[in-house]
Amino acid sequence: MQRIKKDKIISTQPFSGKTAVITGASSGIGMATALALAQNGAAVVINARRKDRLDKLSKEILSAGGKALVVPGDAGRVPDIERLLKDTLDWKEGGRKYDFVIVNAGRGIAGGLMTSDESVWEDIYRINVLGAAHLMRRAAKYMVQEKRGSIVAVGSVVGRHVSPFSSFYGSSKFAITAVAEGLRREVAPAGVRVSVVMPGIVLSGFLDVAGYTQENFGKNVAQFGKLLEPQAIADGIVWLLSQPPHVNVSEIMIRPTGQTYP
Ligand SMILES: NC(=O)c1ccc[n+]([C@@H]2O[C@H](COP(=O)([O-])OP(=O)(O)OC[C@H]3O[C@@H](n4cnc5c(N)ncnc54)[C@H](OP(=O)(O)O)[C@@H]3O)[C@@H](O)[C@H]2O)c1
Repeated sequence: MQRIKKDKIISTQPFSGKTAVITGASSGIGMATALALAQNGAAVVINARRKDRLDKLSKEILSAGGKALVVPGDAGRVPDIERLLKDTLDWKEGGRKYDFVIVNAGRGIAGGLMTSDESVWEDIYRINVLGAAHLMRRAAKYMVQEKRGSIVAVGSVVGRHVSPFSSFYGSSKFAITAVAEGLRREVAPAGVRVSVVMPGIVLSGFLDVAGYTQENFGKNVAQFGKLLEPQAIADGIVWLLSQPPHVNVSEIMIRPTGQTYP
């Protein structure tokens, strides 16, 4: 992952004066995206449950001359989501609010419908679908009033192509992809953009949390060659947010080149 060099964040960067909220910023794609947005000048509000990791990331951004606000919390709980949005609004240093909201927090689960651990199913939907939708609804209300803003939901290739190996997790990403596209149609007339980024296989904490091992995963994906680092997804997010306000890249899929399926 790219790290920020000291004094790299200067006020002429493309996102200077803008504020970005990023959920799931304590690891993987969210952390790489927070760093990339900060590196491009955005003031970043970083959220996840592991505060120690957020504090470390914030320190790194501050020491490079950027702005960061840590708001720990559970992205699947409405009171925590509301606190995240309120603390963002109250953040004096943060400049203009809610230019970008990156709805990234999520978790996976190894196995198909017959083999995955049923006791995790509710948690998957609570975070990946309900929490994401509650955040998108609240951020969109604010953006519609302001007549600007961009929401990026992190979906998945298995939210577009059904995989028998992760069908339950994939169904949560199908759901949030549909929610995001529905929201895009609601808010587009107000000049608000909504995008879904669908990653293929990314090396991050996701694989451990989901319970993937060499046996149930590594062996099957070895044929795909080099897998993605979180930076590849962060770069895609920065690119789509860099488009002029009248250009909405509503979907991108980013896979390792060798990933044939899903
Ligand atoms: N890695 C892949 O192959 C892949 C592929 C397609 C899509 N995705 C999606 O990409 C997104 C990011 O995943 P990743 O690959 O970066 O995995 P990761 O390294 O495990 O990061 C997941 C992030 O989500 C946060 N999170 C999980 N549950 C949360 C909760 N209840 N409340 C707040 N934050 C929570 C984690 O922070 P805390 O644990 O500190 O709360 C962590 O920061 C997810 O939506 C995932 O479904 C990943």
